[in-house]
Amino acid sequence: MNNIKSQSDIKKMRVAGKLASEVIDMIGSHVKSGISTEELNEICHNYIIEVQQAVPAPLNYKGFPRSICTSVNHQVCHGIPSKDKILKNGDIINIDITVIKDGFHGDTSKMFLIGKPSVLANRLCRVAKECMYKAIEIVEPGLHIGDIGAVIQEHAHKNNFSVVREYCGHGIGKNFHESPQILHYGVKNTGIKLEEGMIFTIEPMINAGKKGIKVLNDGWTVVTQDKSLSAQWEHTILVTNNGYEILTKRTEEG
Ligand code: MF3
Ligand code: CO
Ligand code: CO
Repeated sequence: MNNIKSQSDIKKMRVAGKLASEVIDMIGSHVKSGISTEELNEICHNYIIEVQQAVPAPLNYKGFPRSICTSVNHQVCHGIPSKDKILKNGDIINIDITVIKDGFHGDTSKMFLIGKPSVLANRLCRVAKECMYKAIEIVEPGLHIGDIGAVIQEHAHKNNFSVVREYCGHGIGKNFHESPQILHYGVKNTGIKLEEGMIFTIEPMINAGKKGIKVLNDGWTVVTQDKSLSAQWEHTILVTNNGYEILTKRTEEG
């Protein structure tokens, strides 16, 4: 299986990644106490369709019923936007955006903090972000894929947090989820070696308590088994000749 993108694929992936990042930038000012996750979904859906002339990838993907994923507090990922889920002071929420433009996917997510979350919630969101960046920063041709998981796991455990094992980062391109799988735990110097032209996501899910998860009866929403808080950040990354390029970088990230 060949995961190496052509120059023309890479150009299109830059466009798709930029659009996904712009949806996150756009929705930020709406993510406040009192709004429902269904309203956030509608705003993003309309923006992607009308302004970006793009396609929200989650909608109808394997039966997912909305255009974005919204995962609040102890929800780990794949939360389904709902009019009954109203954000309140102290909540933390992951918003995960995937758009398709010109046949190619861009996939990114971040945590938003509503009002004044607890010290623990703040620390969890910060450490989850650090886990993602520590992994991104070592990406270069020749790196063993196990090194990515190892740095994430090491940083999470150092902070007494755990790493969700059931879901992982993924190759991405014409398809939402392609090979290779990017595990968020692992052993240094193991696994395949990265090559220039690969594109994949890094999207660690970090729990404040134990690593166990379960899927709710809606068939989608993943929650922590022990009801502890969970946080996730995601970027789509291109392996360049001497390092990496973040295809979903936001304006705030410089
Ligand atoms: N965006 C998620 C990811 O990072 C996948 C969501 S699949 C959905 O891979 F169906 F729930 F949208
Ligand atoms: Co992803
Ligand atoms: Co995603």
